Amino acid sequence: MTAIERAASARHPFLDGKAKKLLIDGKWTEAASGKTFNSINPATGEVLAKVAEGDAVDIDRAVAAARHAFEGPWRKVKPYERQQLLLKIADLVEKHFEELSLLDTLDMGAPVSRTRNNKRRAVGMLRYYAGMATSIHGETIENSLPGEFVSYTLKEPVGVVGGIIPWNGPLGTSIWKIGPAIATGCTIVLKPAEEAPLTPLRLAELIMEAGVPPGVVNVVTGYGETAGAALSSHPGVDKVAFTGSHVTGQSIIKASAGNLKRVSLELGGKSPDIVFADANLDEAVPGAGMAVFANSGQICSAGTRLFVERKIYDEFVERVGQFGKGLKVGNGLDPETQIGPLVSEEQLQRVTNYLNIGKQEGARAIAGGARLTEGALAKGYFVPPTVFAGVSDEMTIAKEEIFGPVISAIPFDDIDEVIQRGNATNFGLGSGVWTKDVSKAHKVAKSLQAGSVWVNCYQAMDPAVPFGGYKMSGYGREGGLQHLDEYLNVKAVWIKTG
Ligand code: NAI
Ligand code: MG
Repeated sequence: MTAIERAASARHPFLDGKAKKLLIDGKWTEAASGKTFNSINPATGEVLAKVAEGDAVDIDRAVAAARHAFEGPWRKVKPYERQQLLLKIADLVEKHFEELSLLDTLDMGAPVSRTRNNKRRAVGMLRYYAGMATSIHGETIENSLPGEFVSYTLKEPVGVVGGIIPWNGPLGTSIWKIGPAIATGCTIVLKPAEEAPLTPLRLAELIMEAGVPPGVVNVVTGYGETAGAALSSHPGVDKVAFTGSHVTGQSIIKASAGNLKRVSLELGGKSPDIVFADANLDEAVPGAGMAVFANSGQICSAGTRLFVERKIYDEFVERVGQFGKGLKVGNGLDPETQIGPLVSEEQLQRVTNYLNIGKQEGARAIAGGARLTEGALAKGYFVPPTVFAGVSDEMTIAKEEIFGPVISAIPFDDIDEVIQRGNATNFGLGSGVWTKDVSKAHKVAKSLQAGSVWVNCYQAMDPAVPFGGYKMSGYGREGGLQHLDEYLNVKAVWIKTG
């Protein structure tokens, strides 16, 4: 028996054959319609569980529960107590981390070598928000009115939050919405992605176990067009925190207009990763490779436009191709696997369509380039690390977000030119620079229009460092001090004392 077979045959404790329910007002309930949908393992095509298909009716119930909780005793829960709840959740997530990471692997395909590694970040985020819960404060501000007035600010929770998350990091993105909601004293209705709803549901069990009061955290699984749309247009929701595609982001802004709810959006990208000839190439090759291949390219900030200085272009691109070919693609349950499947058949279609377009438009696939169908891989949605050489800025694969393990490698000649071309996109989420020249690094870091610039690294993330987009990659920041402000209102208080 292989390691994969052993792991797959050991039944995951959360997959007990029962249909998964919605969490509304602290109770696990079926969808009002009684309907369910299947959650699928993308490595094998097998059904993992039936999941309640919540719709507008369930969203309505969940929002009512969240409102009731917000206006009830939760409003009076002190920051210290919210801190203790977050610390308790962090402890439980830490204790059950192996189970949670396996569930992410089963439900969305990312290899355990990746999902296990996310522990420090997931638990660290919860502890970071816990720390922040007792650090929320207004200011007293000197004013210049004639007479005597004291002016100060209060920071208050914005109210009921609708969290809508994608499938590419179910545990992490759930925590990025729920953590700040609890820290600030908001309540939340979370709508997981239909492709990967299981980890958010298991996390919700742990949140209840930690003693979070009913209605503070609700989870409604279901489709975007029904449950997601109902949440983003609901008049009882004060803020939507969304991560996903820019197209859905645009729908959410429109849907939010009815009650002018606050919106924060963490959307996609077509991030430039710039390699100068003077870089440490031994580090830049795997660095630029994993900037795209990690999570099979299903990362919003992936460095998919790889700009390489012309004098090293051929050699460097060849080396990245070799690096990609050396990565082990397979079922994520195998601890040796580095690249798992894409999340769904739909995503496989999207990505293979882009592979075809790339070839039609004249790019050369020097690694990968087509779906893998050998042996057991045929049942899953596997695309190998792919490197397109000979790409120009006008090609579709250099402009559109592919969300697969696909690098579009483009040559450049000088620094001003590459800054201009790097910025010639509607997106602005991530970006990378590889050079040993500190002046060049500073110049590029200052000039790129992107929420994150990574120098001689890629995808470095920390709970204390803000993450988010410029331009069509969205607005609002997650992580860092700014994150809580997204969940807080500022009230100015004036007192005439003279
Ligand atoms: P999506 O943006 O449609 O889905 C993300 C979440 O939004 C899911 O929970 C979905 O149910 C929900 N949703 C969908 N339509 C909605 C609506 N009208 N109102 C409210 N919520 C809605 O992304 P999808 O379709 O799963 O993937 C398509 C492409 O989007 C990917 O190929 C990729 O390019 C991009 N994407 C970017 C992500 C990121 O992290 N920035 C994450 C997921 C996808
Ligand atoms: Mg969708």
